[in-house]
Amino acid sequence: MNREAGKTGNNLTDAMTRKWWHGKVAYQIYPKSFLDTNGDGIGDLRGILSKLDYLKELGIDIIWLSPIYKSPFVDQGYDIADYYAIAEEFGTMEEFDELLAETKKRDMHIIMDLVINHCSDQHEWFRKALADPEGEYADYFYFRKGKDGNPPSNYRSYFGGSCWEPVPGTDKYYLHMFAREQPDLNWENPGLRQELYDMVNWWLEKGLAGFRIDAIINIKKNLAFPDLEPDGRDGLASCWRMIESARGIGELLEDLKHHTFSQYDAFTVAEVFNMKEGELEEFIGPEGHFSTIFDFSAHSLSDGEHGWYDAPEVEFEKWRKTVIDAQLEIQKYGMEANIIENHDEPRGVSRFLPAYARNAAGAKMLGTVSVLLRGIPFIYQGQEIGMCNAEWNSIQEFDDISTKDQYQVAIEAGLSEKEALTACGRMSRDNARTPVQWSSQKNAGFTTGTPWLKVNDNYKEINVESQEEDPDSVLHYYRKLLALRKSPEYKEVFTYGEFVPVYEDTESIMAYYRVGCGEGTADAGSGAGAAGRMGCAGTRVLVAANFGREAVSLQLEYPVKKVLLSNRTKLSARAEELTLQAQTLILESCEAVVLEVVGDK
Ligand code: GLC
Ligand code: CA
Repeated sequence: MNREAGKTGNNLTDAMTRKWWHGKVAYQIYPKSFLDTNGDGIGDLRGILSKLDYLKELGIDIIWLSPIYKSPFVDQGYDIADYYAIAEEFGTMEEFDELLAETKKRDMHIIMDLVINHCSDQHEWFRKALADPEGEYADYFYFRKGKDGNPPSNYRSYFGGSCWEPVPGTDKYYLHMFAREQPDLNWENPGLRQELYDMVNWWLEKGLAGFRIDAIINIKKNLAFPDLEPDGRDGLASCWRMIESARGIGELLEDLKHHTFSQYDAFTVAEVFNMKEGELEEFIGPEGHFSTIFDFSAHSLSDGEHGWYDAPEVEFEKWRKTVIDAQLEIQKYGMEANIIENHDEPRGVSRFLPAYARNAAGAKMLGTVSVLLRGIPFIYQGQEIGMCNAEWNSIQEFDDISTKDQYQVAIEAGLSEKEALTACGRMSRDNARTPVQWSSQKNAGFTTGTPWLKVNDNYKEINVESQEEDPDSVLHYYRKLLALRKSPEYKEVFTYGEFVPVYEDTESIMAYYRVGCGEGTADAGSGAGAAGRMGCAGTRVLVAANFGREAVSLQLEYPVKKVLLSNRTKLSARAEELTLQAQTLILESCEAVVLEVVGDK
């Protein structure tokens, strides 16, 4: 039952060189929906500035800003028109510099989104390319001749429709993996690459700590652009299948890293889907292309075969196995970034919890088992108060480009409008993009104007202000959870400790140990001092949660040393129950506990 490999030969700390970002907690801000300070209904940099103390108190070290560059916002800023300018909607470069300075003062770091697979069709490069389709800038993109009056190949873009769009006045097409307003950049062109590297370094020079790197697996194409077996009613084939057949991305990624990130000791977290077998070490190992990548394995469980309309519900047992298998695999090579949700995903509370657990206790439970996994936790805005999916009443309420596409896909597959709306309501990216619920005031305190996207109807029940006042709230719990993860006593074990699953055969239980490693002396001077203690050999922590409806009794394998956290009862009451003599641990429905146990039996 217990998959522990044995107590020797598993020295994960020693296998890893310590990095400044190990042990840190990150928070993703989706600026448009965070906080509006000038009443235009759009979140802004001033809003972020005003909440830095809130984030500091929550326990955040690294802030990831979704794109704030100048953009026509066809894909909400993931279509960049000028990499060196801040979108007017969000503020000015002076305000950004102020943000950098203020985070630094608080010993926090900023990372920005790096969207370099594509740019906006409003970018100067693309405008020049269209103006002169035979000129230098045309080769910054993929301009290709069509075949017999058709596009060069039959790829379907991620947002629907062909990946190829005619270049006006020519017999050529340009390639776009995402929207037609997001032309793909030609990474085979050394001149283009140099432009991108200069830009990355410009931001790093400013004092950025690193980047979240968007859609990066797409930069290496199969340049033959072969037609593929159609996989949908539209006669097209998913474009990622072309990406899967491309070879040599590693060289491009190493080139990027050596010209930029590695010169600044930058932290990089990449969005990588469709990695090939055996590539994990190349991506996140000691010499990896990136510091880390996101673990999306649990999210992929609800990938529909044809779209959102046939997206399966996430079953607890599959979810548990998926998370456990990913952790066991990843820890052989490095660390990944763990998320419950992000700006592309529905809210985790609505997705990973059964209906009876979609409440404060459930949100705390899900937070506990996710945040204490091995890796870098990324909290998405609003997650810390348990925000959940909104109720969507019509397709017009959505803004997101991919939601509109998925609605059409569902209708074309024969679903009624109501059914298509339900499918989108469950999976839409806009679930994560509704404004942060700050208070029970109008528009949840997000704006005094009209919010750019509707506010979730439940803001009177779920909001920061009321949770501040309630010591049992999800918000207070997240503060305790992050404080525990970063506490001098346990930081080492939660950062470097081995992940060892347990009670895997017990229905509805998600549980694991974090087991200390390292001899506790070898690392002097290598930066471990920040944790106030070297190594964590001998420390063993049990994280256990009951996702079921009924109470479950677990046979404890080790004597309990200390109750570190519980989402239900007062800690003191738990501590009385769980003494050194305790043999069993009874977990109520939706209960999560974190116990330090006596390491050696
Ligand atoms: C990434 C982003 C997503 C965006 C896409 C295109 O997946 O996270 O929001 O739409 O790339 O840039
Ligand atoms: Ca604003």
